[in-house]
Amino acid sequence: MDNSEYYSLRDKVTKELSNQVRYVPIEERKDTGVLPVELLSSISHGKFQFNWRGVDVMKDPLDLAIVQQLLWELKPRTVIEFGAYKGGSALWTADMLKMFGCKSRVISVDIDLSLLDPEAKKSTDVEFIEGDLMQVKTIFPVEFLKTLEHPWFLVEDCHVNLEGILEHFDHFTEPGDYICVEDTNPLIPGVIGQGLIKELGYTFWGPEKLNDLKNFFSGRSQRYMVDQRYTDMFGYNATWNMNGFLKRM
Ligand SMILES: C[S@@+](CC[C@H](N)C(=O)[O-])C[C@H]1O[C@@H](n2cnc3c(N)ncnc32)[C@H](O)[C@@H]1O
Repeated sequence: MDNSEYYSLRDKVTKELSNQVRYVPIEERKDTGVLPVELLSSISHGKFQFNWRGVDVMKDPLDLAIVQQLLWELKPRTVIEFGAYKGGSALWTADMLKMFGCKSRVISVDIDLSLLDPEAKKSTDVEFIEGDLMQVKTIFPVEFLKTLEHPWFLVEDCHVNLEGILEHFDHFTEPGDYICVEDTNPLIPGVIGQGLIKELGYTFWGPEKLNDLKNFFSGRSQRYMVDQRYTDMFGYNATWNMNGFLKRM
């Protein structure tokens, strides 16, 4: 194959993507995905070994690719991650944005920053904040939110107070902002390490978070739509974040 064939393939891909409906109300999305349990378990074998610069990152390879594309397209001025853990995903995000030449502010919150890896802690590109996201309004007072430049990329990965966090931030989002709600796929592992450590077996995460996601975004399609370019990049909901990439319209 010579290079002209590559170029024409790229044109075909671009045309195919432009013909697809990209943004839809969450009500139009199904609660299913193409990834079977066996594959989720197998991918988890690698997911739970994955690190960035030696720091654990709790993301699967599909979502790392999806989010990387999103970051490149969105070029967020502000990223807020709810749930830092060791700081690996915040570090990865800040490094990606730096490589892209974006001047972004990356903020990551956790109730227990003693969990942070030293490599993440020493980064000057991430602002880690310790606080309880049950009290989201205290951590992110209105006056502070007003200082944060848009577009925003909000990443929910703390698994507490989803509705409270979304409700609070909803007042301050602007068209073009993105929200990613992680781990909404009911078939992902219910316990850290499943898929890698045989003795843990495999139990499901369950539908609770997906239901919370639907409860919040249903009836709000004037403001938020699911971006199918991202949820379905590798096949229908081939992501840990089922219907979990939403754009503020
Ligand atoms: C799944 S981990 C985050 C993983 C990280 N985003 C990554 O991808 O590497 C969830 C984190 O949420 C934090 N968390 C749980 N409850 C919280 C709360 N009430 N307020 C703030 N953080 C909380 C936990 O301490 C934990 O570190």
